[in-house]
Amino acid sequence: MPPVITNVDDLHAIYRRRVPKMFYDYCQSGSWTEQTYRENESDFDLIRLRQRVAVDMEGRSTATTMIGREVAMPVALAPVGLTGMQHADGEILAAKAAEAAGVPFTLSTMSICSIEDVAEHTTKPFWFQLYVMRDEDFVDRLIERARAAGCDALVLTLDLQILGQRHKDLKNGLSAPPKLTPASVANMMTKIGWGLNMLQTKRRFFGNIVGHAKGVENAASLASWTNEQFDPRLDWEKVRRIKEKWGGKLILKGILDAEDARMALQVGADAIIVSNHGGRQLDGALSSIRMLPEIVDAVGDKIEVHMDGGVRSGQDVLKAVALGARGTYIGRAFIYGLGAMGQKGVAQTLEVIRKELDTTMALCGEKDVHDLGPHNLLVPKGFRGEWEPHGRNG
Ligand code: GLV
Repeated sequence: MPPVITNVDDLHAIYRRRVPKMFYDYCQSGSWTEQTYRENESDFDLIRLRQRVAVDMEGRSTATTMIGREVAMPVALAPVGLTGMQHADGEILAAKAAEAAGVPFTLSTMSICSIEDVAEHTTKPFWFQLYVMRDEDFVDRLIERARAAGCDALVLTLDLQILGQRHKDLKNGLSAPPKLTPASVANMMTKIGWGLNMLQTKRRFFGNIVGHAKGVENAASLASWTNEQFDPRLDWEKVRRIKEKWGGKLILKGILDAEDARMALQVGADAIIVSNHGGRQLDGALSSIRMLPEIVDAVGDKIEVHMDGGVRSGQDVLKAVALGARGTYIGRAFIYGLGAMGQKGVAQTLEVIRKELDTTMALCGEKDVHDLGPHNLLVPKGFRGEWEPHGRNG
């Protein structure tokens, strides 16, 4: 009998058993001590919900828009590097599940399936996440490829000019395809379903890069690729250049400070994603949900504010929306579903989250996702202001 999936943790447990340790660890890591990674999740638990009763709950709707696009709920799939290593053809499968559920899919630059692969297997536009490389021609070609594939938003990541250190990836020798060492082979031999699927696909390299970037025949290691190719000089001037080059909807990802949110507004972005890269970059930064209200206060009336980091349930989505996020992104939560059971698993993740959001709305006395607000929450005193800028430059 197939397992009964009632929450995202159920998918996580199956995912853990099915996927090689190297890729499981990649997903489950934050940088250095992982404080920010842990707090992204645990800070959601500090926020409680206000139960309201005797409210007509019939005819509820979680539907809204993100940058003008209709979405079935305020949730998009976040860009996740190496998704096609978690399950063969992972990006295609996740994009199909997102399309069926009526939410946007965002393809990472560091994906295994290419922009063209995903476009060929989907019917609705997806979003493309861009990393800025030193090679400007290559960046321009990526932008052109995204445009040609019909992508309707560019998600430009600003918090990864250099890669944060994740201890396990270094110890495991993370690469795509995986390097064959005695330890990795021994582990992969226990992951039969994963391996059989992987043998049936040709997509085992960084599909947007290999064969497209000059001189790159086999970009095996994420760490070496980022160290050599990512542009550490990325600044607001370059953001402006990319905005001009793209000319379409632009979402800036990795904003965690009100000052930077104001800069994003000045360059004319359509939305920002309050994010610390899932706790994978600057360990010691505050969680996304804790920074969200301050950033909403600073720019929320002029630009759409989205958030990611720690979203594992519909209750988390509700809390973020009530604090002013127009949309949220799930990364790890959809990878659990994908690794557990492919497209069906991503569909299950989205369905679990949609139901949780819908039921929580009802029990909070709300029928329309647009009516959610701070009045639905009980937030500890000091949730926003406990940490202050320190010193004379603060
Ligand atoms: C890349 O986006 C990563 O966080 O590994």
